[in-house]
Amino acid sequence: MALLRMRLKVLVTVMMVNLFIFILISRQGNQDKNGRNKVRVPNKPFWSKLVPNQAYWNRQQQILDLQHNPILIANYSSADMPDWLNGTSLTSDPCQPDLRVTTQVKDYNSLPGRFKDFLLYMRCRSYPLLVDQPHICKDPPYLLLAVKSLAPHFDRRQAIRQSWGRAGVLANRTVVTVFLLGNATAVDHHPDLSGMLRYESARHKDIVQWDYRDSFFNLTVKEVLFLEWIQTRCPGARYIFKGDDDVFVNTFRILDFLRGLSGPKARDLFVGDVITNAGPHRDKKVKYFIPESMYVGMYPPYAGGGGYLYSGDIAARLQNISQRVTLYPIDDVYTGMCLRKLGLAPGKHKGFRTFDIEEKYRSNPCAYKSLMLVHPRTPQEMIQIWAWLSDPDLNCQ
Ligand SMILES: *[C@@H]1O[C@H](CO)[C@@H](O)[C@H](O)[C@H]1NC(C)=O
Ligand SMILES: *[C@@H]1O[C@H](CO)[C@@H](O)[C@H](O)[C@H]1NC(C)=O
Ligand SMILES: *[C@@H]1O[C@H](CO)[C@@H](O)[C@H](O)[C@H]1NC(C)=O
Ligand SMILES: *[C@@H]1O[C@H](CO)[C@@H](O)[C@H](O)[C@H]1NC(C)=O
Ligand SMILES: *[C@@H]1O[C@H](CO)[C@@H](O)[C@H](O)[C@H]1NC(C)=O
Ligand SMILES: *[C@@H]1O[C@H](CO)[C@@H](O)[C@H](O)[C@H]1NC(C)=O
Repeated sequence: MALLRMRLKVLVTVMMVNLFIFILISRQGNQDKNGRNKVRVPNKPFWSKLVPNQAYWNRQQQILDLQHNPILIANYSSADMPDWLNGTSLTSDPCQPDLRVTTQVKDYNSLPGRFKDFLLYMRCRSYPLLVDQPHICKDPPYLLLAVKSLAPHFDRRQAIRQSWGRAGVLANRTVVTVFLLGNATAVDHHPDLSGMLRYESARHKDIVQWDYRDSFFNLTVKEVLFLEWIQTRCPGARYIFKGDDDVFVNTFRILDFLRGLSGPKARDLFVGDVITNAGPHRDKKVKYFIPESMYVGMYPPYAGGGGYLYSGDIAARLQNISQRVTLYPIDDVYTGMCLRKLGLAPGKHKGFRTFDIEEKYRSNPCAYKSLMLVHPRTPQEMIQIWAWLSDPDLNCQ
């Protein structure tokens, strides 16, 4: 009791001192010695001059920001435009390799090949559609499941069709599934699978393929092409799940979760396994390595690319804003950057387990009941888990 009273005393004293300091500062700050309100006029411009960032991505983003800033751009006549802002001519074809990067990125010549490939085509955002499903959303779905896949992953796609990605009506909601593919090209020593893909696409009518090289650093291209595809082919989708082809998705649980949403919560939905306070890896051996010459700064909060869920409304806003965000070689970070530009942050949901669940629970059907996503799972595991969850006799108390 005495201890409590003492703590209370200390607390009150601290508050009094704070109040005193506040009064002291606010009197000094707002009034001069005659008691009149004082307006502080800075004697120098209080904005800093636009200086080029040393890192290439950051610099490209500065240029993009400037081009879209009506006040600042009006002040730059083309003649006094600093050289580095002149860099991106608005007239040159963005899909021709941009050879200027070879001199504009400090250590270009010593970078691994994937960076050179990325940098040369960083400004290109449009590639032709090779396979499309223009009528797949004739009846706008409640949930669109979009799966990032690679041409050779036939078994993963088939397992998804037979399990969590079964299109049609589920729990009284319409579900449409599409697989997003680029071109697995001979350059990367892929066998020619085009005939098999043609057969698969004719049979299942759920493949969307663009003509660009399907590589890890081009997943961001897949993202922007998909955002555009939604607006032309599936603008009526209420919700969209986008994820990898090696995850298990508990579609029942997702529909259940969505049913409970309304108002702004439904309109502004973006949830997944959110990573905060991350930055680029500087270790060359890591898959996610990014050199300092390319990007400096932290990453915004982002949802791991294994899978996340968002509203159709957010999809439209992301599509719009993505044109103002320079492409970044890591797709989920890029989506986080777009969200930040919209003034939004992804929401973390415990049901998204992109780093899997504890080993001892993995073969327990009930462990999956309340989850939305688990990564990674093989095609066989997907079918097994789906069978567990579909069993009306499954009893988890
Ligand atoms: C606009 O240009 C003038 C003259 O070139 C300069 O003094 C002024 O600081 C510029 N304003 C901004 C916002 O950059
Ligand atoms: C910048 O653009 C202006 C006009 O478009 C041109 O006169 C000038 O030479 C350019 N500077 C560089 C370094 O490209
Ligand atoms: C099924 O969904 C429709 C709207 O999509 C709704 O009108 C209907 O009441 C639902 N039926 C049941 C049994 O929940
Ligand atoms: C993409 O794939 C198609 C058919 O699969 C092929 O004809 C075309 O040459 C490929 N494009 C590139 C750039 O390799
Ligand atoms: C992305 O795709 C384009 C078009 O096929 C290709 O030129 C480029 O090299 C690819 N980039 C990477 C990083 O693979
Ligand atoms: C897209 O963004 C522009 C501004 O960049 C805005 O005027 C427009 O209303 C936006 N459209 C949608 C559908 O949000």
